[in-house]
Amino acid sequence: MTTRNDSGFGNFQQEARMDEYRQSNRVLWNNWAQIHAESKLYDLEGFKAGTLSLKPIELEELGDVAGKSLLHLQCHFGKETLSWARLGAQVTGVDFSDRAIELARSLSEELGIPASFVLSDIYELPNALSGQFDIVFTSYGVLGWLPDMKRWGEVVAHFLKPGGTFYMVEFHPFAYVFDNTEDGQGLKVSYPYASKEPLKFETHGSYAAPDADFHFVEYGWNHSMSDILNALISAGLRLEFLHEFHYAVHCNMFKAMEATEDGWDRLKNPIEREAIPLMFSVRAVK
Ligand SMILES: C[S@@+](CC[C@H](N)C(=O)[O-])C[C@H]1O[C@@H](n2cnc3c(N)ncnc32)[C@H](O)[C@@H]1O
Repeated sequence: MTTRNDSGFGNFQQEARMDEYRQSNRVLWNNWAQIHAESKLYDLEGFKAGTLSLKPIELEELGDVAGKSLLHLQCHFGKETLSWARLGAQVTGVDFSDRAIELARSLSEELGIPASFVLSDIYELPNALSGQFDIVFTSYGVLGWLPDMKRWGEVVAHFLKPGGTFYMVEFHPFAYVFDNTEDGQGLKVSYPYASKEPLKFETHGSYAAPDADFHFVEYGWNHSMSDILNALISAGLRLEFLHEFHYAVHCNMFKAMEATEDGWDRLKNPIEREAIPLMFSVRAVK
């Protein structure tokens, strides 16, 4: 959507457009934060009653967080951040949505779970937060909102102590190539594997509340697996593992999916199920 132009004016125009996309996405997320806090999928009442909003993947793969300082990037309204705190971590959550941060702070206060929440864009975080952390964590639906993986990797490295651990679990970049077929029975190749220009989507409701009466646009970027991993490597991190999963957390990812007995969602078509990884996880050390 942006015009590539190497002149100074072109760069200025491009930056102005990036800011527009970001402002628009912030409005989207301010609305979604409120909708999600009231949604069945986010089950805030269950969380208040004591459940953890973490999945077995990150619980097993990140391991014991007790006594460690943990920075959660793109924390939404803090359920996962506060879950890590329930497991003994000293947590700091960051998000660029004012409504999400407001909700996260009130949840922390209401539940008496100590946590610090910072309102900031990921790329501006080094100006908004000081210190380094034992763990930097991020999960489920984060990278597609960020235009630049290299700068993201630098922010991750900036906030990690030497020897600290970065861990993420996220939707697989290959899955973002697909959209629902018209009849909703399968998948069709629809989007680039990596997009330097933002993709624009008309949004109705949200992934957590498809029937909510909210209509807006979202701007997103697809990043290839190599862009994601090279961003971490070039920022000075050493990869410990990359895992890929042919199942996903329940979030209405595609229409042709079904909940399976183990609590994950899978594609119904057995060929698509085996062909398409839906999530991945990475652990790396600085
Ligand atoms: C899908 S949510 C994260 C999901 C989280 N795992 C959860 O389910 O609660 C993505 C979050 O990224 C935040 N976000 C999007 N772009 C951002 C940016 N540039 N800087 C900081 N936060 C951003 C949104 O406000 C939203 O809270």
